[in-house]
Amino acid sequence: MLPLNATIVRIIEESPSVRTFFFDLQFETMEPGQFVMAWVRGVDEVPMGLSKKNSITVQKVGEATAKIFEFKEGDSFGLRGPFGRGFSLPSKSEKILIVAGGVGAAPLAPYADAARNAGSKVHTVLGARSAGDLIFEDRFEEAGEVYVSTDDGSKGTKGFVTDVLSSLNLLVYDRIAVCGPEVMMASVFRLLEDRKVLEKAEFSLHRYFKCGIGVCGACCIDRSGLRVCKDGPVFSGVQLLDSELGKYARDASGRRVKI
Ligand SMILES: Cc1cc2nc3c(=O)[nH]c(=O)nc-3n(C[C@H](O)[C@H](O)[C@H](O)COP(=O)(O)OP(=O)(O)OC[C@H]3O[C@@H](n4cnc5c(N)ncnc54)[C@H](O)[C@@H]3O)c2cc1C
Ligand code: FES
Repeated sequence: MLPLNATIVRIIEESPSVRTFFFDLQFETMEPGQFVMAWVRGVDEVPMGLSKKNSITVQKVGEATAKIFEFKEGDSFGLRGPFGRGFSLPSKSEKILIVAGGVGAAPLAPYADAARNAGSKVHTVLGARSAGDLIFEDRFEEAGEVYVSTDDGSKGTKGFVTDVLSSLNLLVYDRIAVCGPEVMMASVFRLLEDRKVLEKAEFSLHRYFKCGIGVCGACCIDRSGLRVCKDGPVFSGVQLLDSELGKYARDASGRRVKI
């Protein structure tokens, strides 16, 4: 439970607002979709999905992530984990659909790697605001076919991942793995529900975390009370029926904030 000291050995700029930080530790037991708590000394401790056994991929959104962006090779932070429930691992005979939006591609890239290693057939719908914001496209291509969407039409289909999903026969997939901005995931959720394939789907949720290990209750979701850090962050579509998904989340004080 104590943070391990992780020294940064390589930094890759994935897009103008996203960087991957490789460190000198390997989380050998990591399952795709699991996260670590990254302790930025003197600032905060924040949850980050593992994009590889030895990396996190960070979007700069606020205080802690801005501080991580100041890090250079040789700097260090504390890491606890890996924690939580990841995506269900695919098997050889299965056909997998991955739906990734923005930095949501980070925990899905190791899932694509795992599916490829298992011999599954993988299709990915990869969305971002514009071509320059797409991350891990090559990694998803190594696993199978990739359908790109960008909000501004600078690459692939102009529009959202749901515009691509609408044109696919979703009945052929055995598993559907989703991660991205919550508004996007809520639209995907509705589409999968309408197409009657929700029971095949898993969604990775982002919520405000304090302890990260299931003790404090900061990350509980309505109405089930499931803890995102311990019972998730990956939940089945059925677990999220009648939940707060896409409606609201809670801030550090527990107050509801509109999504
Ligand atoms: C399980 C899990 C895995 C995550 N994996 C990644 C990842 O791989 N890469 C990545 O870049 N981010 C990831 N996040 C989100 C990341 O934890 C937040 O972006 C980070 O905590 C923001 O900290 P900050 O101090 O920079 O921003 P703050 O100053 O705290 O907030 C800036 C903005 O981000 C929003 N925000 C804060 N915390 C969260 C949160 N936990 N989820 C969603 N929005 C938040 C705030 O509402 C605010 O609008 C993950 C979150 C969870 C719960
Ligand atoms: S963050 Fe404390 S229970 Fe989830």
